Amino acid sequence: MAYEFTKDDLEAIEQLKTKFPEVKPVTLPALWIAQKRFGHVNPEVQKLVADTLDLPQAHVHGVASFYTQYYKEEKGKHVLDVCTCLSCQICGGYDILHYLEEKLDIKVGETTEDGMFTLNEVECLGACGYAPMLQVTNDKYVNHLTPEKVDTLIETLKKGEKPKYEQIGMPRRKNIKK
Ligand code: FES
Repeated sequence: MAYEFTKDDLEAIEQLKTKFPEVKPVTLPALWIAQKRFGHVNPEVQKLVADTLDLPQAHVHGVASFYTQYYKEEKGKHVLDVCTCLSCQICGGYDILHYLEEKLDIKVGETTEDGMFTLNEVECLGACGYAPMLQVTNDKYVNHLTPEKVDTLIETLKKGEKPKYEQIGMPRRKNIKK
């Protein structure tokens, strides 16, 4: 497949270039634009970004491979990043991960046959207070996971809907003991 940016993509990249004194910092947002367009930034897409920015391919590859948020290969429509770092692990992160493996009939790192879901195990996503949790395709966090919540999430995504935003209150001052 030949990868090409659209006219709008190229205009957005040109616009970004005007915001920085040099072109290198544009690599990050240009990779985002590419990932939005193609769903991943595999080596050919990285080359496209490098050529578009007139930067060495090795530089673009270095940036893309540093951040797990950039997908270096094709993924499912929905990428489920399940946190199994300390807090999530203590609160059942692995139970959730294994539940999803069974439910989706795939192992960690795999994509379902219909291309709908990719399952990943990831490090701390900075929401330890809401453990166990997962992130959907670099976007929504789903917190305080239970098998029932996982079922609802999968049904929601299959219907083409987004998971509901969950407002989680911070501890109030009157509840904090001095
Ligand atoms: Fe899971 Fe921090 S340990 S979000």
